[in-house]
Amino acid sequence: MKDYGRVAVLYGGPSSEREISLKSGAAVVQALKSRGVDVHAIDVQPDIATRLVAGNFKTVFLMLHGRLGEDGAIQGFLEVLGLPYTGSGITASAIAMDKALSKAVWVASGVPTPEYALIDSPDGMATAAGRLGYPLIVKPVAEGSSIGITKVRDARDLARAYQLAADYGRVLAERCVTGAEYTCAILGGRALPVIRLETPQDFYDYEAKYVLNTTRYHCPAGLAPDEEREVQTLALRAFQALGARGWGRVDLMRDADGRFYVLELNTAPGMTDHSLVPMAARAAGLSFEDLVLAILDHAGDA
Ligand SMILES: Nc1ncnc2c1ncn2[C@@H]1O[C@H](COP(=O)(O)OP(=O)(O)O)[C@@H](O)[C@H]1O
Ligand SMILES: [Mg+2]
Repeated sequence: MKDYGRVAVLYGGPSSEREISLKSGAAVVQALKSRGVDVHAIDVQPDIATRLVAGNFKTVFLMLHGRLGEDGAIQGFLEVLGLPYTGSGITASAIAMDKALSKAVWVASGVPTPEYALIDSPDGMATAAGRLGYPLIVKPVAEGSSIGITKVRDARDLARAYQLAADYGRVLAERCVTGAEYTCAILGGRALPVIRLETPQDFYDYEAKYVLNTTRYHCPAGLAPDEEREVQTLALRAFQALGARGWGRVDLMRDADGRFYVLELNTAPGMTDHSLVPMAARAAGLSFEDLVLAILDHAGDA
């Protein structure tokens, strides 16, 4: 086996997604251990600098979600320390965490993404709804886990939806895509098999993601071979347009007219044994342990 040296898995941290990060990190630690890697789990606390320097690590496996862990902050910190890490660099992480910036880059690169408007006051909602129609999707620019998202059906709910999203910072309104929902994992330079998500909820909301057991995951996704390739190519283009590297997961939806649209890129997606990237990897013949090692192999890629 390749000598990976001392590997630090960074997990936990202060973000709103701490709990899921703890689970993902524990699963990654377990997998690396089982493959004989000298792995050290570090729950990110204010003493992180001291621990990283004292630990004499060769590589860092980043299993942090959300603010400070997935937005370029810890990536910049590791660059300064000269420690190679898994996943995307500073810029791609920062852009992917910001849905407004991501969409601007995709529009400029010809990657289809739902039409949108940035809203800076409750008054802006009616104008956006006039242009984008109902139902209107209203979401925070920088959150995850479907937190703060509303599907607005008529003008009476605009103010409430704005407020809900604004609690998490800047607000984005998007044209509602009405067809099936997909996600496509990227590993190294290639797209893994596409997964289709199916929920009886109004959309793939927090409950559908983490609470209810009524969400169905289909892999293979049930697409014709050329459609599967189309989604994979689109996901890879979305990933590359933001300058992402290593691994990630692109969320997409299909409109009533059959066209696919990119919603967002997750640069450090969940890695519990029932998360989506491991599911796609399994369909490609990679065990959870194979997947974790492959992600580690790409650490520090240019
Ligand atoms: N434009 C849209 N049209 C229809 N549904 C959407 C749209 N944007 C988001 N959704 C629904 O909300 C969910 C979460 O949106 P997403 O942009 O992926 O943000 P998050 O970072 O919270 O996962 C999606 O999985 C989808 O079910
Ligand atoms: Mg999403």
